[in-house]
Amino acid sequence: MVKLTGKKKLLTAVFISGRGSNLKSLFKFSKKKSSPIKIQIVLTDNKKAKGLLFAKTKNIKVFKINYSNKTNAEKKIKIITKKNKINLICLAGFMKILSKNFIKSFKGNILNIHPSLLPKYKGLNTHERVIKNNEKYSGCTVHLVNGKLDSGKIILQKSLKILRNDDAYKLSKKILKIEHKVYPEAIEKLFSTH
Ligand code: GRF
Repeated sequence: MVKLTGKKKLLTAVFISGRGSNLKSLFKFSKKKSSPIKIQIVLTDNKKAKGLLFAKTKNIKVFKINYSNKTNAEKKIKIITKKNKINLICLAGFMKILSKNFIKSFKGNILNIHPSLLPKYKGLNTHERVIKNNEKYSGCTVHLVNGKLDSGKIILQKSLKILRNDDAYKLSKKILKIEHKVYPEAIEKLFSTH
C-alpha cells in the first residue's frame, strides 16, 4: 500500500458508472485540510453517468473510456493514471471488473465500496437479496480490490438493523447514507498521518 509522506496528498482517481453520490462525498472529504486525498480525475465507462455533471461543476478532469474491448480499455486507463500521477483509485459504483493484471500493476492501491456486509451478498441486487432472505442486519463495506469480485481485505464495515417495514429501496437509501460516511472514514483509517 502506498505511504503518505510529509504534506503530500494521494492523487486519487474516482471510477464511476452512474449517479456518483459517493464521488460527491469523497470530493467533500478531499476538501478538508487534513484529508489524505486529492481527487485528480474521474473516470467512467459510461459517458451518460450522472456523476460526470458533478465532476464538471467542480472542474475535475473527466475521462470517458470505451469499454467495448476490456484489454484496450485498461491500456488506456493505465496511460491516463500514469500521466496524471495517480496513486490511489477509489471505485465508487464502477460497474466493470478490473483484471488481475491491472490490479497488480497498481500494487493494491485500489479501494471499493459495496452495499452489504461482505463477505455476504457479493455482486449485484444486494438489497433485494438481503430483504428476500429476511436478514436482520445489513450495511456496507470498504475493501481493497483483488482479482475476485468484492473479495479483497476489508478495511471498514458498518452495519444497521433492518426494520420490519424496510424494502429494498428503503434499505438502499439508508445504507447509501452510511456509505457516504464510511468511505472517507476508511481512507482516513488507511492513510491519515495525524
Ligand atoms: C453504491 O451503493 C456503492 O456501494 C455501489 O454502487 C453504488 C454507487 O452509488 N458499489 P453512487 O453512484 O456512488 O451514488
